Amino acid sequence: MSPTPLRGQKALVTGAGSGIGQAVAIALGQAGADVVVNYYGDTAAGAQEAVERIQAAGSLAIAHLADVSSEQQVQSLFDHMLDVFSTIDILVNNAGLQQDAPIDQMTLAQWNRVISTNLTGQFLCSRLAVGEFKRRGVVPSVSSSAGKILCISSVHEVIPWAGHVNYAASKGGVMMLMKSLAQEVAPFKIRVNSICPGAIQTAINRASWETPEAMSHLLTLVPYGRIGQPGDIARAAVWLASDDADYVTGTSLFVDGGMLLYPGFAGNG
Ligand code: BGC
Repeated sequence: MSPTPLRGQKALVTGAGSGIGQAVAIALGQAGADVVVNYYGDTAAGAQEAVERIQAAGSLAIAHLADVSSEQQVQSLFDHMLDVFSTIDILVNNAGLQQDAPIDQMTLAQWNRVISTNLTGQFLCSRLAVGEFKRRGVVPSVSSSAGKILCISSVHEVIPWAGHVNYAASKGGVMMLMKSLAQEVAPFKIRVNSICPGAIQTAINRASWETPEAMSHLLTLVPYGRIGQPGDIARAAVWLASDDADYVTGTSLFVDGGMLLYPGFAGNG
């Protein structure tokens, strides 16, 4: 792969003020894309850091505060992007969160917050991206496709997760959103895929790795024997967004160190 396979392309990464989203935004910028770094909550400094690192790599970058679960804020985010960059070639639906509780203690607010950010947010952003991809069509000097959507899902789109029914339901929803959308827009030469991270070392799962005991317990679930890093996801994102993956659509790429391999069955069953 060329070091800058995304040269000339315009990307939007949601939830890019921290963790996986920040790493993906920086990697897309380093691969040559100009990037809108969407952020929300208390991650303004992380978004600014991403902007600076993308600019240092020679690409353009702007930060934009928006809650992806708000129709009006997503519209403003896209209006800003089209104003500054004229179009969009790559959407990375990354913004997501957890609000964990046993179901008999889970509030409707916790359920709604997770579904509206993790699932409805991906719908709202994909809807506007597809509109622009269809309007513009393929520009062969830029990419062989008319647009790419990457949904950041989770191993929990297939692995049930007790104590996290809102989160697992949102990711199961992302799986069928991604596949149904991929089927719908393939005739327009638009590619839609998911990356399904396993345990990646970020703030969202700090409790699972911050003590040696927690880390060694976590690693019983990871056959490859290490926790993932945001860069593991970012490198997969660059490839999936590039024309090297031009024939890949409607697929979930698990980047999980083997978490999906039922490690509890090794030597058992
Ligand atoms: C969750 C993490 C968890 C990982 C593996 C991710 O989708 O956000 O908290 O560590 O799945 O269970």
